[in-house]
Amino acid sequence: MVNDMETKLINAVNPHAFEEAGQILRQGSLVAIPTETVYGLAADAYNGTAVAKIFQAKGRPQDNPLIVHIGDCSQLNPLVREMPEQASLLIDRFWPGPLTMILPKSAQVPNEVSAGLDTVAIRFPKHPVAQAVIQAAGTPLAAPSANTSGRPSPTTAQHVLEDLSGKIDAVLDGGTCQVGIESTVIDITVYPPRLLRPGAITWEQLRQVLGTVEIDPAVCNPLTKGQAASSPGMKYKHYAPQARLILLDGGYEQYCDYVRAHAAPHVAALCYQGEEQGLPVEAVTYGAAHDEWGQARELFDALRKLDQRKFSLVYARCPKQEGVGLAVYNRLIRAAGFEVISLE
Ligand code: TXA
Ligand code: MG
Repeated sequence: MVNDMETKLINAVNPHAFEEAGQILRQGSLVAIPTETVYGLAADAYNGTAVAKIFQAKGRPQDNPLIVHIGDCSQLNPLVREMPEQASLLIDRFWPGPLTMILPKSAQVPNEVSAGLDTVAIRFPKHPVAQAVIQAAGTPLAAPSANTSGRPSPTTAQHVLEDLSGKIDAVLDGGTCQVGIESTVIDITVYPPRLLRPGAITWEQLRQVLGTVEIDPAVCNPLTKGQAASSPGMKYKHYAPQARLILLDGGYEQYCDYVRAHAAPHVAALCYQGEEQGLPVEAVTYGAAHDEWGQARELFDALRKLDQRKFSLVYARCPKQEGVGLAVYNRLIRAAGFEVISLE
């Protein structure tokens, strides 16, 4: 696709920012907006032609459906055919916030949004800028992460411009995203409810509210040949770094020993803050060792840095698969093409 438009950078502190973004969206054009998770590439969710532009700008496979973002709960009913009992429990506890629910879709949701599925993904973001833009647009917004398909999700306006400058009308700059990884996705059209993508709302928290919640096997494992994906997004090789990335599962000492034994030019470390000193190779950090929130916040920026620096092999510290750590692990294990070495 040719880069044929000028992408306007709008600062969210500008008093006319929301009005301007809202107007662009009402006209059927695209604006990248900050949310508490990552930046989203937004279009009017009821305008199929506008939504189709999202797929073009991102180079997104046509069969991968989008999340609809609402600005208050009154926008929910028209999008949904029927409301499973569990929806209200999750809404009371986690909305607005980084939780996406898969619900039976109403006839009003354009096929471009749901990619032909009978369900629709809905989220009420907590970020005040996202809420203000939805209000200003006067319509729910369909928005995937605002990256080129196959790149790490963007956590700053700069990341969005790196990927989509010239392809979208505007980016609304609301600073760095607080959570840093995409929302938790739960399917409540099935019983027991199924966790399709882990995020800042953890499996443990969901179980407290719903009782049983199954973790889809594709969260931590590769899809086996011929296995159907519960979520179309699981099928796609998400972000594939330019370098080969390998997770090293073990303690800090074991990690250092392994990296020392395998040090070479063009080898890098993806480690936790403060661990660089012990390593004989170049290092990029993502958060501190016992701070999975910091790891989540910094992961995608770290992956972008690694790509810029053109290493051929990266040894990464392997996060714990608990709490928010499960979400960090889910993103990293995909970046690693499921390549893990156990150091225990
Ligand atoms: O935090 C987020 O969720 C960000 C911000 C912008 O809100 N959005 C985001 O969207 O990550 P996206 O498109 O990058 O990821 C949405 C995921 C995809 O894996 C997609 O396959 C899945 O949700 N999904 C969407 N609709 C679905 C549906 N009806 N059934 C199953 N999975 C669905
Ligand atoms: Mg995405």
